[in-house]
Amino acid sequence: MKKIKVSAPGKLMLFGEHAVVYGHPCIVTAIDQRVNVSVERTLRSFVGIEAPDMRVTDYKKEVSLLGKDVNIPKGVKFLEIAVKNFFEKYKVRSGLKIKTKSEFSSEFGFGSSSAVTVGVTKALSELFNVGLKRQELFDLSYKTVLDILGVGSGFDLAAAIWGGTLWFVGGGKTVIPLQKEELPIVVGYTGIKADTPSLVRQVAELRKGKSKLVEEIFKSITSITKEGRDSLERGDCVRVGQLMNLNQTLLMALGVNTKELSLLINAARSAGALGAKLSGAGGGDCMIALVEPNKRLVVERAIEQAGGKVLKVNTNAEGVRNE
Ligand code: PMV
Repeated sequence: MKKIKVSAPGKLMLFGEHAVVYGHPCIVTAIDQRVNVSVERTLRSFVGIEAPDMRVTDYKKEVSLLGKDVNIPKGVKFLEIAVKNFFEKYKVRSGLKIKTKSEFSSEFGFGSSSAVTVGVTKALSELFNVGLKRQELFDLSYKTVLDILGVGSGFDLAAAIWGGTLWFVGGGKTVIPLQKEELPIVVGYTGIKADTPSLVRQVAELRKGKSKLVEEIFKSITSITKEGRDSLERGDCVRVGQLMNLNQTLLMALGVNTKELSLLINAARSAGALGAKLSGAGGGDCMIALVEPNKRLVVERAIEQAGGKVLKVNTNAEGVRNE
């Protein structure tokens, strides 16, 4: 039977996290570490899933029961709900065999759930000849993410779909591809897995109690994001670095920074990075530093000495594609 293979990239947030949840813009870049998804039809009555990176082997779910169980294992949730949403929307049903393989750990905060959601939805679109356009692929994948997490701007889905470096406004209302050059970035992993939905809720709580203040912070983040876009397009790395530092200060004000992130960020700055900040929700995961090529090794070593793990990542990667 016909087998469709696709891959979708992970992502890093450059500017605008948290503010993007409230309709402000952000800048996200797709990275060259990908999640591979293969899908084929079977004559069986169930969907079978193999996702060894998520410690899932030989998972089976009757097509008529997709999404019905309250305790769907974490490792298959996005796949199962994505299939259910696709079947419902396009009035198709079939037994399926789905396999996933990720080039990066789901612990890093590179957006493996979003990449897998985009990957399987795109593969189903090919398998059933639906020919989803990018925006339709976004909308259907975003529904899956919201069905599961209840919160999120969808920026990571946009990165997985469009690839490159994007100007993104929450909910996918605006997606604009930006300059195409590779960004000289060093990525440091704190070793701590962050829980994005609870950090988003934490900021929502702060916003409830201190709405004026938090709105002011979001406005400042938006100014930084706008200037970040201009500076990126001009290739002004020094200014981009300064803006990353400013963005980090505002993320600290939102209360999402941690001691471990600060250690890596300060180490990178002291070793000569042009700027450094957390990337994503905060609470752990990764930090990024903008680094001139001649300083890369020193900065990488400083991050490691501060307890971080340096992850080799290139930015501006291609969006979801057939393999
Ligand atoms: O933790 P990550 O890498 O998934 O990034 C979350 C970014 C937020 O702006 C905090 C949430 C969102 O959905 O935009």
